[in-house]
Amino acid sequence: MAFYRRDLTDIHCFTTDEFVYMLDQAADMKQAIARKEIASYRLAAQRDMIVALLFYENSTRTRTSFEIAAMRLGMRTTGFAGTEGTSVKKGESLRHTLDMYEAYACDALIMRHPLDGSARFAADHLGIPVFNAGDGKHEHPTQTILDLFTIREHLGRLGDFDMGIAGDLKYGRTAHSLVIALSKFQGVRLHLFSHKDLALPDSLLDFLRKANVPVTVHESLDEMATQVDILYSTRIQKERMPDLSEFERAKSMSEFTHKMLDSTRPCFGLMHPLPIDKTAPSISPSIDGHPKAIYKIQAGNGVPTRLTELALSLGLLEDGFTGEVYEPEHQNEQFIEELEVVVKPQRIDVSIRPIRDCGVVIDHIQPYQEEILVRLLQVRERRDIYRAGTVKSVARPSEIKGILMIENRELSDQEIRAIAAVSPGCRINFIEGGHAARKLAVSLPARITGIPQIFCPNKGCITRVEHQEYVAPIMVRAGHDLLRCYYCDQLVASAHML
Ligand code: CP
Repeated sequence: MAFYRRDLTDIHCFTTDEFVYMLDQAADMKQAIARKEIASYRLAAQRDMIVALLFYENSTRTRTSFEIAAMRLGMRTTGFAGTEGTSVKKGESLRHTLDMYEAYACDALIMRHPLDGSARFAADHLGIPVFNAGDGKHEHPTQTILDLFTIREHLGRLGDFDMGIAGDLKYGRTAHSLVIALSKFQGVRLHLFSHKDLALPDSLLDFLRKANVPVTVHESLDEMATQVDILYSTRIQKERMPDLSEFERAKSMSEFTHKMLDSTRPCFGLMHPLPIDKTAPSISPSIDGHPKAIYKIQAGNGVPTRLTELALSLGLLEDGFTGEVYEPEHQNEQFIEELEVVVKPQRIDVSIRPIRDCGVVIDHIQPYQEEILVRLLQVRERRDIYRAGTVKSVARPSEIKGILMIENRELSDQEIRAIAAVSPGCRINFIEGGHAARKLAVSLPARITGIPQIFCPNKGCITRVEHQEYVAPIMVRAGHDLLRCYYCDQLVASAHML
């Protein structure tokens, strides 16, 4: 039962085998719907199932195709399309709104919300399956499944092809989910084109590099169009831009014109998640009826794919899956190593005077980053006596390191965790009677939460206090000194947390 009660909030939570299985099932569903083989798809007819659709943002395709999928399954739907007329307008938090749909015993929840990471929050908060219909600029995973379905239907395969993605790669959540999914298929060569201000985020480029996906960044859309089998055009996401001059600069350069079709490959397919903004079209309207324009077919595939996702998660379809199941990575929680204390004679030729009686010495801090720990430990606010600086190592004078010494200071477990979070690799020495009584080496903890100074830098993240959703930030380890927001996947170097 690999899919039973599974949430669909983030595309990376599926293996290649799981994608292929879902697409195979969806292909059967598409055929059954076309032939009106009702018994094959009206799987919830006798189940009294209700699915809630909570659309905090505008939508035509995602909402309607999910609604039709639920209706074809024999479910009923509830919820809202836009927050006008709901108690969201009275200031209700997301948490409380979600609670209502669980209290009313809905069987599944489909949500589109403007905040990055809101879908993951909803899935963790609720005991029913949650489907992410788009969360801010973060992800749109059910769109990606219909995109994969369409590519496979058009090309007859999902590997060994050239895939172009153009338009708004910075704010476009469809592009973000799509590149993550495509990285799981062999032989996909990615081609990217966008205005330089709307390029794919570095974190995703880094992800693709680590996944060994060849990526070519093109200077012109005409040129890219000649080199790809599929071109996925996207709308410039005006509504997510803090500065509309970004939109003005980018709006015309990504338009796919009729003339460009002439030099495309014979198998070429032009895709778009839609909608196309008629005031700044990313595809010329004259292309709509062309056989290489497959975006209407693509949108239509939203019904069988979303129907399959609902049916698998709600246990309506027999789950005969036998391939590789997604397993979340379990990180070692251990981040403190007790080191042997070696008693050394006090040196008088050091640049910072040691602690004479009691306190802590935090050593081997990255050079010039000792000030971060001064702020983290609120050394000045507490009026602690301290010395901090970047110094030459006594043992290895060719090396420099940051050091922070605080007189008469003890550290709580939470403070040790916080130090490890922003300064992995440092040593913490507890001094008693002028000598080290205990020495710790700390590395980055697997999960960091409950430290007020550590929060997600993404202003669109659900955990940000300004959104008043009261979701506590959780940062997880993403590398030796790299953290990732658990909710919105924003990456940040640990030293830049404060
Ligand atoms: N592709 C897509 O998400 O379209 P809608 O915004 O109309 O749902």
